[in-house]
Amino acid sequence: MFATLEQTGATELHVHRDPVTGLRAIIAIHSTLRGPAVGGCRCLHYPDEDAALTDVTRLARGMSYKAALSGLPHGGAKSVILRPDGPFDRVALYQAFGRFVDTLGGRYITAIDSGTELDDLDQVAMTTDHVWGHHGDGLDPSPLTTLGVLSSLEAAVRHQLKRSNFRGLHFAIQGLGHVGADVARRLADAGASLTLADLDTQRSQSLASELGAHWISADAIYDASCDGFIPCALGNVLNANTIPRLRTRIVAGSANNQLGRDQDAQLLHDHGILYAPDYIVNAGGLIQVAMGHHGATRDQIRRKVQGIGETLSRIFREAQQRGLTPARMADHLAEERLQHTSDQAA
Ligand code: NAI
Repeated sequence: MFATLEQTGATELHVHRDPVTGLRAIIAIHSTLRGPAVGGCRCLHYPDEDAALTDVTRLARGMSYKAALSGLPHGGAKSVILRPDGPFDRVALYQAFGRFVDTLGGRYITAIDSGTELDDLDQVAMTTDHVWGHHGDGLDPSPLTTLGVLSSLEAAVRHQLKRSNFRGLHFAIQGLGHVGADVARRLADAGASLTLADLDTQRSQSLASELGAHWISADAIYDASCDGFIPCALGNVLNANTIPRLRTRIVAGSANNQLGRDQDAQLLHDHGILYAPDYIVNAGGLIQVAMGHHGATRDQIRRKVQGIGETLSRIFREAQQRGLTPARMADHLAEERLQHTSDQAA
């Protein structure tokens, strides 16, 4: 357990079991140096507890880096609910989770992530104030996450393909949920052609027919020849097995923890693929809920999210000049910012 915390730099782990509702949940806090730690709640089946622990601590680090590079006064954290095997009372489970979050007194603020819906967060909001992005505050993060993905794609296309728009380009999108489907519609509107894949083939088929796109099976998406591959499903999709199959020049999508291991960033680079670091690409949702709660206007939030592309362009350039991968360059900048905050606090 401590080895996992050390590997990811996470500083705290909180574990809770509620025998009444069957809740089994973990909260990992990476850092509170810059302010209360924010991060979504996943509710998934994990093969074992170690897998949940690795996921939650790596995700917490990504949230700290994301908040630091977005210049937000927040640290990073994440939580996972180990999804019960049998039928369960969803309302009671999420209310129990809210009580767990409340025990941390606001040092952790929860939000949406895979397997959790806005309705679930409404239940969390019944038992704690420390939840962002539900119907009550009207700050659904997904549309702003989409905006950030599009801004990132523009930057990647400009850098790698020397193109200033999406017209005539071909993109392959993995995962057609809140973000992936929205990205697909916006790219189709901008004149791009699309190959779509989701584990739920019904979803792929109906979106493909709506947009005049191709759809393929979930596993075949790695072999699709395209200008940009857009992972919007789950993590660990870029690894030694999948990277050699990719026939793209760019990877930029919203999924968290896309790289199987940190070294996979180098493997992508060796295959001539420009990788846009996931926690920068998907920062739009965090910016939306954090700035929204700090009183920013819609316009101010949109402008900030549209700035994600500029941040990425700078990272692509600096990485190239210093002979680093964009992923390493982004980590380096985020770690510098966290160190600076820590020095100031000392
Ligand atoms: P979602 O749960 O609405 O959609 C995910 C989709 O991916 C589902 O349709 C699911 O069937 C599909 N999927 C799962 N495994 C797949 C596979 N192996 N191959 C193909 N499709 C697969 O999730 P959402 O909200 O769209 O988020 C997508 C990703 O972006 C997640 O990793 C999430 O953590 C990340 N993210 C989302 C944010 C948001 O504002 N929604 C903010 C930051 C990150």
